[in-house]
Amino acid sequence: MPATVVLGTQWGDEGKGKFTDLLASDVDFVVRYQGGHNAGHTIVIGEDRFALQLVPTGILNSHVIPVIGNGVVIDPKVLLDEVEVLSSRGVDTSRLIISGAAHLIMPYHQELDRLTERYLGKNKLGTTKRGIGPAYADKASRIGIRVQDLLDEKIFSQKLEVVLKEKNQILAKVYNRLPLDESKILSDYFDVYAPKLAPMISDTVGILHRAYKKGQEILLEGAQATFLDLDHGTYPFVTSSNPTAGGACTGSGLGPRQIDRVIGVAKAYLTRVGAGPFPTELEGDVADLLVERGFEFGTNTGRKRRTGWFDLVLLRQAVALNSVSEIAITKLDILDVFPEILVATQYEVDGERTSDLPYHQSDFHKARPVYKSFEGWMEDLTKVTTKEELPYNARTYLSFLEEQLEVPITLVGTGPERDQFVSFR
Ligand code: GDP
Ligand code: IMO
Ligand code: MG
Repeated sequence: MPATVVLGTQWGDEGKGKFTDLLASDVDFVVRYQGGHNAGHTIVIGEDRFALQLVPTGILNSHVIPVIGNGVVIDPKVLLDEVEVLSSRGVDTSRLIISGAAHLIMPYHQELDRLTERYLGKNKLGTTKRGIGPAYADKASRIGIRVQDLLDEKIFSQKLEVVLKEKNQILAKVYNRLPLDESKILSDYFDVYAPKLAPMISDTVGILHRAYKKGQEILLEGAQATFLDLDHGTYPFVTSSNPTAGGACTGSGLGPRQIDRVIGVAKAYLTRVGAGPFPTELEGDVADLLVERGFEFGTNTGRKRRTGWFDLVLLRQAVALNSVSEIAITKLDILDVFPEILVATQYEVDGERTSDLPYHQSDFHKARPVYKSFEGWMEDLTKVTTKEELPYNARTYLSFLEEQLEVPITLVGTGPERDQFVSFR
């Protein structure tokens, strides 16, 4: 069976975790294809709330094989801690497999992420300080250490020796820091992490291709989102991987013709964590109410998220960049108490209106949204489970988005719980 991608169409935290979990009930594999523990995917099952960082959401479905693909960067300590916490909560983690080609986040990556942010001062990006950027930079510079290197101590220590020499020079001479101790890193990675991770390390590309040939269902779980994409996002205020649909191929090893469904997840309003342009950003009471009702705080970092109105200029671009075949709208219920709901349909840049995303960064920074106003429904949606039960004004809002995006909306989230959604199929 062709594979499905679930990805974020905005600036992250759209609710990818919730819908991936929902769709995982019908698949055999759930694959994370990029990012690392900068992600925080929340799944609420009754009284239980899971905030997954590195482990694919499929772990919560007992028949699914969760796969960490080659495109992911892995902090082994974080992964092992996450697995341990999940196991202690009764989740079977024995099915988890990790690509040997994925790169490792090393202690110097985290340290350099923190230091670079400090060095940038008011120009900082607001990264999650997890070492993501520096790890991907080493991958591109071909000095990264890979998961498979954990299976060969000689190779691992040779690579570490070379790379640490350079990193320690940078730490000392640029940032005036103490050097990192090579033997401590070796003993952590070899004596502690390698024995525990070794049984999980596999040829995930081969496994996925064999599964595909057998007709098994594969779901590719995006982290971050389209406008945090290294190539297509609001550079430099982006992450260092490709969350867009092309990244699902490079980060899993599946080819583009093996994917036939791309579900773009979009929050019914907008949020963003960290720095960067945000044309529909709100301030004041409306922003505060969105933060309060939507509980808009980072799943892992706890940072307050910036909020704004839904932006069709961004979404049209996201649909195009990812070949989105259907849209899943989340958190519609958060808008239940707003008498007026705005949607940006165009931008105004230097007095000119445009429906397209300005390609030049300076124009994007100057873009002012042109809004269309909708009357709110002022009703509780959290118990609505069918399209017919949705209030007229909510259906009008969704129909407008669908018409503008020229892609069907197939799922609508009406609460954080697994069963709080409306299926439009
Ligand atoms: P992700 O990173 O895209 O998986 O999203 P996060 O988990 O970081 O943030 C989404 C938040 O919204 C989580 O707390 C979810 O439990 C919650 N959520 C997801 N869908 C809905 C929904 O339809 N309604 C409400 N009220 N909350 C939702
Ligand atoms: P999920 O998968 C929201 C943001 C950071 C920062 C920028 C770069 O939960 O949607 P990084 O640490 O990746 O180098 O930070 O990207 N960011 C996210 N924002 N959701 C995420 O993941 C994010 N992962 C990174 O806040 O602005
Ligand atoms: Mg998140």
